[in-house]
Amino acid sequence: MKCNRIQIQNFRNIETADVRFGDGVNVLVGANAQGKTNLLEAIFYVAIGKSFRTSHDEDMIRFGADVCEISLDFEDSRREQNLTVRLMAGKRRRIEHNRVRLAKVSEVVGLFRTVLFCPEHLSLVKDGPAERRAFLDVAVSQLYPNYLHSLQTYHQILKQRNGLIRDAETDRKTFNDTVEFWSEQLAHEAAVLSQYRARYLKLLQPAIRACFAEMTDGKEIPDVVYEPSLHGDPEDYEDAAATEARYREKLMSNHEREIAAGSTLWGIHKDDIRIDLNGKPARLFASQGQQRSLALAMKLAEGEICRDICGEVPVFLLDDVFSELDAARRSYLSEKIQGRQVIITSCEPTVTAGHLIRVENGEYREE
Ligand SMILES: Nc1ncnc2c1ncn2[C@@H]1O[C@H](COP(=O)(O)OP(=O)(O)OP(=O)(O)O)[C@@H](O)[C@H]1O
Ligand SMILES: [Mg+2]
Repeated sequence: MKCNRIQIQNFRNIETADVRFGDGVNVLVGANAQGKTNLLEAIFYVAIGKSFRTSHDEDMIRFGADVCEISLDFEDSRREQNLTVRLMAGKRRRIEHNRVRLAKVSEVVGLFRTVLFCPEHLSLVKDGPAERRAFLDVAVSQLYPNYLHSLQTYHQILKQRNGLIRDAETDRKTFNDTVEFWSEQLAHEAAVLSQYRARYLKLLQPAIRACFAEMTDGKEIPDVVYEPSLHGDPEDYEDAAATEARYREKLMSNHEREIAAGSTLWGIHKDDIRIDLNGKPARLFASQGQQRSLALAMKLAEGEICRDICGEVPVFLLDDVFSELDAARRSYLSEKIQGRQVIITSCEPTVTAGHLIRVENGEYREE
């Protein structure tokens, strides 16, 4: 996968930009608040159809402007392609792939494969399970469009089932008549998605361990393990039929508990990933630098799995990745990123060798 060129109008503090990227390491260098992260955000947004900073598209339109446009030229091992997104205040966004409008935003996922790492990813290790589920959803969706499709269906069913539970006190008849139907639908999609997640994490664990072994000379050993809402051995979740039966049973035999709680208590929306370092929960015991290394290793591993499964090395977008890493971890990372296309941001030009792009006040100048 290669990102060749991006043309931007009215995105964040960028009035207009036309930036070309080199094959290897590209370093965006500039002082604070100049537009380094904004450029990564623009690339990520075209690739995934979602920002990593905001869920409000209008936040990304430059203050005072009405229309924002991002056009990305990229190529995979087969052909050159273009993705263009146009955002308009108060209107639906428009996404085109090779000048043909996509009917659904979800169709964009998987065309341009990218792996992003930004300081907020520390939350993967530190914060609640929602961050880790989001990591899984983006990583797996980029590999399997069916996963994303199933996930969207799952959330629609969940919404219906939660509505039913909320109204059960006042309308017990509707609840009794339909709860089985919605529970079965939910159990089916939950089993499909759990199977994907279990398989993905089985690949992720060894990839992260390999990364840590090199980075810390084998001194630190991480565990990154699927923790499904029904608990038990993650391997069991690779059998979707058995998982579906377990979910169905759970969702059909705890109605009073769910009504008291006001929502669905089991399902992939309650899954987590357990992250340990040397056998202890990383959230509680790992240092800031170790937590950062863990989040980074998850991202590097995501890239490796993508390469192994679909034969494409994704483009790495690394925001401010070197800060808080000691010399050994920095040099590991510098070596690791050679030979692949990376777009990295930094305040210091000397952070790592590469094609230098100076960033000043939303303008980009190649050196
Ligand atoms: N919708 C918008 N319109 C105009 N400017 C915006 C918009 N959203 C954000 N900005 C501006 O973009 C600037 C931040 O850019 P960015 O996050 O890319 O900085 P950076 O170069 O990554 O800095 P740092 O080194 O601090 O991370 C801020 O000054 C912010 O005010
Ligand atoms: Mg930044």
